[in-house]
Amino acid sequence: MKYLIVGSGGREHALAWRLSTDGSSDEVYVTPGNGGIKEKLRVGISADDFEGIAGFVKEKNIDMVIVGPEAPLSAGIADYLEERNIQVFGPSKKAARLESSKLFAKQIMNKYNIPTCNHKEFANKEELLKYIDTVDNYPIVIKLDGLAAGKGVGIPEHRDEALKFISKMVKENDKVFVEDHLVGEEASILGICDGNNVKMLVPSQDHKRIFDGDKGPNTGGMGAYAPAPVMTDERLDFVYKKIMKPAVDGMKKEGIPFKGVLYAGLMITDDGISVLEFNVRFGDPEIQAVLPLLEGRLGDIIEAAVKGSLDKIDIFFKNKHSITVVMSSGGYPGGYEKGKEIRGLDDLSDDIIVFHAGTKKENGRCYTNGGRVLNVTCTGDTLKDARDRLYSEINKIHFDGAFFRKDIAYRAL
Ligand code: GLY
Repeated sequence: MKYLIVGSGGREHALAWRLSTDGSSDEVYVTPGNGGIKEKLRVGISADDFEGIAGFVKEKNIDMVIVGPEAPLSAGIADYLEERNIQVFGPSKKAARLESSKLFAKQIMNKYNIPTCNHKEFANKEELLKYIDTVDNYPIVIKLDGLAAGKGVGIPEHRDEALKFISKMVKENDKVFVEDHLVGEEASILGICDGNNVKMLVPSQDHKRIFDGDKGPNTGGMGAYAPAPVMTDERLDFVYKKIMKPAVDGMKKEGIPFKGVLYAGLMITDDGISVLEFNVRFGDPEIQAVLPLLEGRLGDIIEAAVKGSLDKIDIFFKNKHSITVVMSSGGYPGGYEKGKEIRGLDDLSDDIIVFHAGTKKENGRCYTNGGRVLNVTCTGDTLKDARDRLYSEINKIHFDGAFFRKDIAYRAL
């Protein structure tokens, strides 16, 4: 099988690494890719150039396209490729609304009794501002309906913060809603779906805030580990029966079968489990921690999902633990500089895998090219082993302004 992966982050590098090292394929292209992808496998077509992607697939006889990020899925890349008889792993534009419209996701959850917290909808900014005048209990959660590159959720602690978030993020006619603020521990469940069946991958936990102790602004994710012990067998059973399967069955009933990755962002509270959000792709950096634990061939799982035969396969994971720590550019998630030379990657011990994200290669040297730069990953017999090994090696990697959290997996340890 020949694959083309669409995207440029650590998730896409991890998918390419897995497919090319587990016997799934010896030809895995990535577009547009990053500095971690071998030059001859890196394709310079951007993720929104569907025509260019389809042309490349035909030219190279690619068997399967895997779409990493949500933006091309929400813009209909899976529909576009399928209409041209190209096999693609990822949901249709309509199914991707589970992520591209948070209100649509809420409707599906409410209709199919999937546990999620109460929400109140507003048709525009003015209505929301009127409501804010009546709120006396903070924090509240304000969410924009549409995609906002991870910046569409505000959790103001008081009125001034709410007004600041609204003035910065909400446009006059944006649909927006307010949710209860839940307190508990988060977990990410990635489910592979074929329209009828869903197979859950090992549960993981992301760390979204920039600073240790889950302080500071939200980021795309500063590190993850798997399995996440907060997801006990009993809770996983609940998630399958009350969240993942009802979501896939519900979408089928709506006439919008869901194929691809259904990612449930969960909050585990004293009162039970609640869905914070659905995403329609692999979590990044969650999948970087999950893939090293997978047994067998990722390509077989993806093929079964695309062909609608997931019920015929089982997915197994190693009885080990994995952790990934994101190294970011200084200043991220605010402003940061690019083009800093990255040194030390060749000095790492063999048990460390580095998935590149915001990097580029020039004349054999590697430079920073984004906010999240590298995903340093390690697997061990225990989570503590994996974490200790990782943190004993990560300091060998250097670039000006490099920043990483020192406490990934702290909740589990
Ligand atoms: N790690 C969060 C996300 O992928 O959305």
